[in-house]
Amino acid sequence: NRKTLIAPSVLSADFSRLGEEVEDIIEAGADWVHLDVMDGHFVPNITFGPQVIKSIRGRTAAVFDCHLMIAPADAYLAAFADAGCDFITVHAEAGPHLDRSLQTIRNLGRKAGVSLNPSTPETAIEYVLDRLDLVLLMTVNPGFGGQAFIPSVIEKTRRLKALIGDRPIHIEIDGGVTPETAPLVAAAGADVLVAGSAIFKGGSKAAYAANIAAIRHA
Ligand code: DX5
Ligand code: ZN
Repeated sequence: NRKTLIAPSVLSADFSRLGEEVEDIIEAGADWVHLDVMDGHFVPNITFGPQVIKSIRGRTAAVFDCHLMIAPADAYLAAFADAGCDFITVHAEAGPHLDRSLQTIRNLGRKAGVSLNPSTPETAIEYVLDRLDLVLLMTVNPGFGGQAFIPSVIEKTRRLKALIGDRPIHIEIDGGVTPETAPLVAAAGADVLVAGSAIFKGGSKAAYAANIAAIRHA
């Protein structure tokens, strides 16, 4: 079994000291940095863009896992690649040309991901499997941290795992991940777990280390 990776979402970080927060979560044992980009159009919230990501890129060598909740996304993919994102994930629901978006990401030299809202079936990715490095299943409706986990996505994770077969594609879960829900999605086949509020609660590096360990050992 591959190691389960933990990707804290900086959506729950202190944005006034984002650089230190990113250093702290990596020193506290996190694997990836999950960056939630929201446009106030695809989702009902606004966060940050490529300039902010670029400004914190130098703080760590860890993988930057960029979750784009923007529509349309294509015109901005080069800017996120240039900002230093390693994975760039677009939503299947965000535009009519998913295949083109995924080709663009790989042509920029980055790993390509697709995210599915809770109501979108896993079969939405069936014809782009060979263009994918990651599938991100939302276990909340995207837009905000701290929402309740939607359990129907556990079965969707199982079906996605079967669809992927032995292809080297990560299955990432995002939303409501806690020490209680983490084992359910890991058992269903997820290998990357995003968590915001469950990791940043406590507000100190020691708290982050304990929160990450609680999810990892759950
Ligand atoms: C939601 C974001 C998530 C969010 C998760 O739109 O994509 O990454 O920050 O937050 P929690 O872990 O608090 O549900
Ligand atoms: Zn996210």
